[in-house]
Amino acid sequence: MINWFMAAKLGHHFLAEILQPGHRAVDGTMGNGHDTLLLAKLVGSGGKVYAFDIQEQALANTRQRLASEGVLDERVTLIPDGHQNIKKYIHHPIQGAIFNLGYLPGGNHEIITRTGSTLTAIEHTLELLSSGGRLVIVVYPGHAGGREEKEAVETMVSQLVSHTYKVVKVNFLNRPPSAPGVLLIEKAGDSM
Ligand SMILES: C[S@@+](CC[C@H](N)C(=O)[O-])C[C@H]1O[C@@H](n2cnc3c(N)ncnc32)[C@H](O)[C@@H]1O
Repeated sequence: MINWFMAAKLGHHFLAEILQPGHRAVDGTMGNGHDTLLLAKLVGSGGKVYAFDIQEQALANTRQRLASEGVLDERVTLIPDGHQNIKKYIHHPIQGAIFNLGYLPGGNHEIITRTGSTLTAIEHTLELLSSGGRLVIVVYPGHAGGREEKEAVETMVSQLVSHTYKVVKVNFLNRPPSAPGVLLIEKAGDSM
C-alpha cells in the first residue's frame, strides 16, 4: 500500500512505479543512504545508481547501509562531490532521480544543500532524464535557508514547459509551513 503521508516514501513509490532492472538512476543527496538503497534494489544488479554527497560521513553511512543489505556492488557508484557536478560523472540518459534536500539527519545541521547548486543540479538532472523518466525533489522549509531553497526550486520547476514535463506538488495542508513538501516530475514520452 502506498504511504501517502511520508514525504520521502511518496517519492519512493513514484520512482518504484517506473524503475526497472537495468535502469540508471541518481541519488542527488546520498545522506544516510535510504534513497540510494531503494534505487539500488529497483535497478537490480544489472542497473546503475550514481549517488552524490559532499560529506564523507554520508558516504560512510551509505556504504554501511548498502553492505548490510547486500547491494554494495558495482551497480552503485558513491561520488564524493556536489550534485551540481553531475555532468562530470554521467554521460548517459537516466530513468529516475531523487533529491532529498537539506541536512544530514544525525549529522552537522549547518552543512545543507544550497539554492544555487541545487538549481544547477536539478537543471542538469532534467537534461539527463530520458522520456518517461521521473524526478523526485523533497524540500524542507523548516531549517535556515530551507524556505528560500524550496521557493526557488518551486519557481524553477513551475516554469518547465508543460508539453515536456508534468509537475505535481504535494503539501500537507494541516501541518505547519515548516513541514516537508514533495515535487514529482515526469518527462514526457515513453521511450524508456
Ligand atoms: C536530507 S539529507 C539526504 C537524505 C538521504 N537521501 C537519505 O536517504 O538518508 C541531505 C544531504 O545532502 C547533502 N548535500 C548538501 N549539499 C550537497 C551537494 N551540493 N551535493 C550533494 N549532496 C549535498 C548533505 O550532506 C546531506 O547529507
